[in-house]
Amino acid sequence: MEKKYYVIGNWKMNPGNLNEAKSTAKTLQRITPNSKYVETVICPPSVFLYTLQKEIKGKTKYGHQGIHHEPKGAFTTKISASMAASAGAKFGIIGHSEERREGVTDEMVSGSLKNCLKEGMTPVLCVGENERDQNGFYFNIIRQQIETALSNIPKTRYTDIIIAYEPVWAIGKDAKRPASANEFLEIKIYIQKVITDLSNRKTADEVSIIYGGSADDTNILPFLEAGAMGFLPGRASLEPEVFSKMVLEVIDFAKNEGSK
Ligand code: 13P
Repeated sequence: MEKKYYVIGNWKMNPGNLNEAKSTAKTLQRITPNSKYVETVICPPSVFLYTLQKEIKGKTKYGHQGIHHEPKGAFTTKISASMAASAGAKFGIIGHSEERREGVTDEMVSGSLKNCLKEGMTPVLCVGENERDQNGFYFNIIRQQIETALSNIPKTRYTDIIIAYEPVWAIGKDAKRPASANEFLEIKIYIQKVITDLSNRKTADEVSIIYGGSADDTNILPFLEAGAMGFLPGRASLEPEVFSKMVLEVIDFAKNEGSK
């Protein structure tokens, strides 16, 4: 089976109101190119999700930002997997560093991952180190994040999970720079090794590993050449023109790969 590429937009806590969200989603649905090679997804804030997927339809699917680690109960402000799925989410962003920095642990991420799969959504598991140290400790962070996240997941489900490498130091407007394609490649190989250790080489090869952290239409080609199966843009996903250019670039790359 041919592997799909993904471009998954994480809107974070943007835009500021429902009208703006509708207008951005409408443009994005209209201008984003469509192809059998690439799955496009946007993950708006929870409160907009149901309305957007109901009213602003198109080839781009919708996903949810964050899935709680418990299936239901007394967790004020939180959204469960079944809620997200019933509001129209097909994907769930899990373990984002902006959640982790507010106290979400690897164990919680593991619960969220399990719930997300149980409700039939595709989890986008975010992993990434805060900084790159000289001694390579960042590899241990990645291993720990993946091993714990997958600890309650049957090995047969690993290939249903997308892993997004998002180094924290490359995320957001204050980031100095995106990661380099080589830095991505190093971690991609390492993630495959961790998954091979947990299961086998074939499974590791089949898991889609994507990149996030200041990804936009000007910088993604080297990542594709390094084997990224797609992207998780934040800011760029709020600009439909930029998002659609990214998708176009991925389609072109995928077509060339397919014809090799
Ligand atoms: P930016 O693309 O804005 O750096 O955000 C990346 C991110 O955190 C996506 O989840």
